[in-house]
Amino acid sequence: MSQIHEDVQEYYGETLKTNEDLLTSACCPTDAMPAYLRPLVANVHEEVVSKFYGCGSPIPPKLDGMTVLDLGSGSGQDCYVLSQLVGENGKVIGVDMTDQQLDVARKYIDYHTEKFGFSKPNISFVKHFIEDLSSIEDASVDLVVSNCVINLAPEKDKVFAEIYRILKPGGELYFADVFADRRLSAELKADPVIVGECLGGALYTEDYRRQMAALGFNMSYTVSNSVLTVEDEALKPKLEHINFTSQTVRAFKIEAEDREEDYGHKARYDGSIAEFADGFTLDQNNIFAAGEWVKVSGNVANILSQSRYKAAFTVEGSFEAHHGGFEAAASEAACCAPAPKATTGCC
Ligand SMILES: C[S@@+](CC[C@H](N)C(=O)[O-])C[C@H]1O[C@@H](n2cnc3c(N)ncnc32)[C@H](O)[C@@H]1O
Repeated sequence: MSQIHEDVQEYYGETLKTNEDLLTSACCPTDAMPAYLRPLVANVHEEVVSKFYGCGSPIPPKLDGMTVLDLGSGSGQDCYVLSQLVGENGKVIGVDMTDQQLDVARKYIDYHTEKFGFSKPNISFVKHFIEDLSSIEDASVDLVVSNCVINLAPEKDKVFAEIYRILKPGGELYFADVFADRRLSAELKADPVIVGECLGGALYTEDYRRQMAALGFNMSYTVSNSVLTVEDEALKPKLEHINFTSQTVRAFKIEAEDREEDYGHKARYDGSIAEFADGFTLDQNNIFAAGEWVKVSGNVANILSQSRYKAAFTVEGSFEAHHGGFEAAASEAACCAPAPKATTGCC
């Protein structure tokens, strides 16, 4: 276990008692999450909710019957929301390294099983470093989610390699985390409070892109992106030269080119995902109004015809003729669009 692991365990196991103890706006309030998820959070036990330290709502749709793994599940809020969405025949696995967080999460398994009307639990919490998920089989998970955790891992390349290993072909990684527009100094990266607040280990967007590409995750798509402000007077002077963003991004275990290329594909969303009857947003550049044809890159055509979203899409086109690069805006979004100018609170 590294010094960073020890510091982070201390921060989430001892220093923070509830999310009100956080010093920055990294943590995302419930009212910032999609409206359809809020009643599901309202079903979660208040002690679990009080220890929610996420920076987004990395919970995509179409989860019925899926196996989902939450990296750094903490007290379990997202897992208990996912438990409702995958249903009794699905499975949710929460992974965390901090005993105090796991204790809170495990304490309420029976409470939620009964509350959701399930005959048996569909959820488990496992103690693991997210850099080593050795008890999870290869290609066994449909969706990996994570909420404000990967920044805390000192060896992010190992985390992404484990995600790639455990995902089924066509599976999805969907996570919210803190990104930075530069590599941070060694001093900031070792500061236990700055690290604990999810800033010291923020993912530098280009290194993230490189680490993902080295594994075969050639494309990452930015779903949402907001400026993260540091209000704390003691931390501000140390961090004000860095632009932090809170981003929700997704990637698929599907063969992809490292740029968006145009082969003349188009796709139409049928409106069948209940919570998104009017339209579906894959990312900031691929937005589908129900029933309308939209031009898509070859990579996106593959996602919409090979992932679990395929039942909701009709995709037309082939890879026989190449028409050049797909629109500049789409290529720019290949990994983590630049920070928006407007200052928003969170997620
Ligand atoms: C910011 S909290 C987020 C918790 C949870 N995702 C949520 O949204 O409430 C970070 C959590 O990740 C866990 N964590 C951090 N680094 C980890 C690592 N390398 N391996 C396993 N868990 C880790 C911590 O123990 C803590 O519970």
